[in-house]
Amino acid sequence: MLNQEIAKLLNEQINKELYSAYLYLDMANYYADQGLNGFENWFFIQTQEERDHALLFRQYLLNNGESIVLADIVVPNEAYENFKTPLEKAFEHEQYVTASINKIYEEAHKIKDFRTMQFLDWFIKEQGEEEKNADDNIKKFDLFAGDSKGLYMLDSEMKARVYVAPSLVLD
Ligand code: FEO
Repeated sequence: MLNQEIAKLLNEQINKELYSAYLYLDMANYYADQGLNGFENWFFIQTQEERDHALLFRQYLLNNGESIVLADIVVPNEAYENFKTPLEKAFEHEQYVTASINKIYEEAHKIKDFRTMQFLDWFIKEQGEEEKNADDNIKKFDLFAGDSKGLYMLDSEMKARVYVAPSLVLD
């Protein structure tokens, strides 16, 4: 059993990760509509990763004898003014997710829940990578997407991204 406040925060994180998946699916859909299939691919893979994150939180709760509490997933209501907007919103969103995971870590630390802290270590590191990837996308866009040839090349690079299952495996 976990401390019930920690269990509640972990349950809420499932919803936040599923919302992340929904948000990135919305971005993938936007790029698909625009004919930028590389950007679509990048965000579709991001959707799969967020689903994986949600399922890891689920499994951790189950492994500790906790019930899963599902909640509504908000429909993303973002207006994408141009090709760069989703990249900026994705970066902002990852910073929000980092803060949320840090908050759970902080609460676990307060009550000496070392098991949850160890579980969250993987996510702390992952968020560093998530923020860097999102920031890199913005920088690459600014550097290379100034004309249609540059945008085409960047889209081709985004198309090369492949899905990799998370390195964290919970039995
Ligand atoms: Fe699940 Fe993008 O953090």
